[in-house]
Amino acid sequence: MKFADRISRLGTEQAFHVLARAKEAERAGRDMIHMEIGDTDFSTPQAITEGAIKALRENKTKYLPSAGLRELREALAEKMSKSRNVDAKPEEMVITPGGKPMIFYTILATVNPGDEVIYPNPGFPTYESVIEFVGAKAVPLEMKGESGFNFDIEELKQLANDKTKLIIVNSPQNPTGGVLTHESLEAITEVAKKHDAWIFSDEVYSDLVFEGEFESILSIPDARERTIVLDAYTKTYSMSGWRVGYGLCPNTEMADVIANLMNNSVSCAPNFTQWGALEAINNPAVDEEVAKMREEFKKRRDVLYAGLENLDGVACHLPSAAIYLFPDITGTGRSSQEIYDFCFDKANIAVLPGTSFGRFGEGYIRLSFANNPVDRIEEAIERLEKVWPELLNN
Ligand SMILES: Cc1ncc(COP(=O)(O)O)c(C=O)c1O
Repeated sequence: MKFADRISRLGTEQAFHVLARAKEAERAGRDMIHMEIGDTDFSTPQAITEGAIKALRENKTKYLPSAGLRELREALAEKMSKSRNVDAKPEEMVITPGGKPMIFYTILATVNPGDEVIYPNPGFPTYESVIEFVGAKAVPLEMKGESGFNFDIEELKQLANDKTKLIIVNSPQNPTGGVLTHESLEAITEVAKKHDAWIFSDEVYSDLVFEGEFESILSIPDARERTIVLDAYTKTYSMSGWRVGYGLCPNTEMADVIANLMNNSVSCAPNFTQWGALEAINNPAVDEEVAKMREEFKKRRDVLYAGLENLDGVACHLPSAAIYLFPDITGTGRSSQEIYDFCFDKANIAVLPGTSFGRFGEGYIRLSFANNPVDRIEEAIERLEKVWPELLNN
């Protein structure tokens, strides 16, 4: 029996496979340090958990409208209006089970087979995977280490043409921690306007900025009418397993299309998790907990950065946001895959090869600094220092 052709074009998010491999190694008795997946070791803020438990007790366990709980859509529209300085309406919001479905639905909603989509590379792997899955042409825009993982504006202009239907933006970025400059956001808007393309702005790290202020592409005049914004509870509130994400659409027509994709695939996001999610907005104690987490992530970032910088052949960009370090390992003379294997086999540390994020990720590895407390990160560095001479001398 054969699968449909499109299945051969579907990629994958490697982090989940390496997580499974590291869990297997643990079952076999190895003491693995997890830095492969972008997750945190913090508990979900108590008020959110209590909100969901209360909702369960009140039997809020039934279907909801596909676009999501009205109260949450209203609260999120207000939050987005303030944080992005726009007029977001509840009817333009769609609540999804985690952030990822918004990527899938946006591409399904905007791109035909044969159309072109410009996307960041290295970048979150789901973009390339789903673009190819739907039969469109994935056009990688290289995020360059030397410019803090921005792109060359001239290159963007050359890549775009009238077949370009969608431009994907991710700032702050996974896997690089890079933040796009105001000029980059302006250039994307200008190019999208010129070719009448949609913009998809993945802003799931908007609340994890350590230095400077978060800037959404919605700050650029003209972006709003063609931009679908994704944000999620996943990283901000340490809620990866809850699966709560949301999109702000440019108009109600787009929100209705996305909601109908929800209707046809999962019906709606779970009910009680959305009541829990509402607490994050209504309860000021949650913001305090998020601020504490952010402070702690910053400490972890600095410790891991200092340790990696000390390793011969490794050069690290200090990210001002998100939860990843993306060091350049070309100085070791080894490939991304070799460094990944070496860390896993010799130091019991699970990282990801940069190539998990596209071909321009060669020469890098990605480490998440959110999953472990500082002492465990220090242990990872000690392990690496111990085995590194073996890597360099062989
Ligand atoms: C850039 C980016 N977008 C989207 C997602 C998906 O998040 P979720 O777990 O909410 O589906 C992630 C998760 O790592 C991400 O890094």
